[in-house]
Amino acid sequence: MSRMIEIAPSILSADFANLSREIEKVEDGGADLLHLDIMDGHFVPNMTIGPPVVASIRKCTRLPLDAHLMIEEPSRYIDPLIQAGVNWISVHAEADRHLNRTVSHLKEQGVRAGVALNPSTPLSVLDEILEIADYVLIMTVNPGFGGQRFIASMLEKIRKLRDIITSKSYRARIEVDGGIGPDNLQQVLSAGAEIVVVGAAIFKADRPASEVVGDLRAISQKYARIVETV
Ligand code: DX5
Ligand code: ZN
Repeated sequence: MSRMIEIAPSILSADFANLSREIEKVEDGGADLLHLDIMDGHFVPNMTIGPPVVASIRKCTRLPLDAHLMIEEPSRYIDPLIQAGVNWISVHAEADRHLNRTVSHLKEQGVRAGVALNPSTPLSVLDEILEIADYVLIMTVNPGFGGQRFIASMLEKIRKLRDIITSKSYRARIEVDGGIGPDNLQQVLSAGAEIVVVGAAIFKADRPASEVVGDLRAISQKYARIVETV
């Protein structure tokens, strides 16, 4: 069965003083959505952007906005982010005591609802939520910073999740985030990922960002063709 593969550049490693130009580069390269890392300095040891900056980003791109909330009590910021124009929101299972309420609320608001898991969080926390989630974000680094090394043992976690989703015929898609680039994209796709977040490999490359996004797309299209012919 063919899966729709989407490339989601993360602006965490972009030049924040020139965001609209940076976003234009990945749009030109054919990005499918734009991944926004929202950090509060509590859930993770770093701070980034909030609803006002997201609202400005909304005005300079037509790409769907995928907000990854690395914040405590994420439900407090969901409505402001929806008003700012995001289309997808993932909340960390470790940060939200009322995941069912949050995921249900996101869906009611017409936003894609995602549940994110840190590398050390087992898939079993998804048991009672996977059926209604639109996507699961598997962290393949410890959240907080761009440019970290991919944790190879996460490939098995992605495979296991893919098996669960397939065996139960759930609709949830798998997003992966951290340490991914042209060199290991095929591996995460083979393990079962569909939405691939890429930060440093795009924005810290020694070649144009649009070119890297083009390569990532080419790799995923090649992978999709191989899978279709099997
Ligand atoms: C890390 C963030 C990621 C980060 C990925 O906490 O969630 O989205 O930007 O960046 P790279 O691809 O550089 O690991
Ligand atoms: Zn992220």
